[in-house]
Amino acid sequence: MEHQSPRLVTSSTEPPKAVLFDAYGTLFDVYSVGLLAEQLFPTQGQALGALWRDKQIEYSRLVTTSNDGAHYQPFWALTRAALQYACQRLALNLTPDAEEQLLNQYRHLSAFPENLEVLQALKSKGIVTGILSNGDPDMLAQAVKSAGLGDLLDHIISVDSIRKYKTHPAAYALGEQATGLDAGHIGFVSCNSWDALGATWYGYRTLWINRYQLPFETLGTQPTYTGSSLRDVLNFLTP
Ligand code: LAC
Repeated sequence: MEHQSPRLVTSSTEPPKAVLFDAYGTLFDVYSVGLLAEQLFPTQGQALGALWRDKQIEYSRLVTTSNDGAHYQPFWALTRAALQYACQRLALNLTPDAEEQLLNQYRHLSAFPENLEVLQALKSKGIVTGILSNGDPDMLAQAVKSAGLGDLLDHIISVDSIRKYKTHPAAYALGEQATGLDAGHIGFVSCNSWDALGATWYGYRTLWINRYQLPFETLGTQPTYTGSSLRDVLNFLTP
């Protein structure tokens, strides 16, 4: 295997030359999916949203760690499978129509309102921007288009090219390969604590956006920064 082993986070205090963002929950707001889930399954929307998301991530790990990736499926297929599982588990009748509605909502997520100004601020300082996501290229292209962020992102990096999901180091390595920069000169931003942790372990300078006042993972490593909205990305610029 050619992937690199985890490295220590650089102690450099220079601003990063590139900032890469996780997609789902970080740049794109998945809240609208929960709203629709609640409309379709009154009182169960929140439970469905949470279980769906957890299962989607669990499946991504399952196919990455089992049998050298032989069971890999693109993130869109895992998203559909996770929705089906979550509905079965909660005894919700997922009709084909409801399934398409929910997945369609997932395909057309809005961006968090502060995204535009934050991405513009990064670009105005000459900082390279991008997405590094488990999402497959079609999903990401559609989400970027729906959110109107296309002109502000230099790289849209999907792990699909290597068929390994984050937190596999080969997935994080794609950010270095795309930008030509060492992870210590790249800021990585995620709302998902497991992703912020994996990226920190890999060697990125990280910002965990704790939008929902959750505890960070309790495995002994902290992200470089913790914030509450994407605006805190500007922390990278004034260390
Ligand atoms: C992503 C998911 C994990 O965009 O949020 O990679």
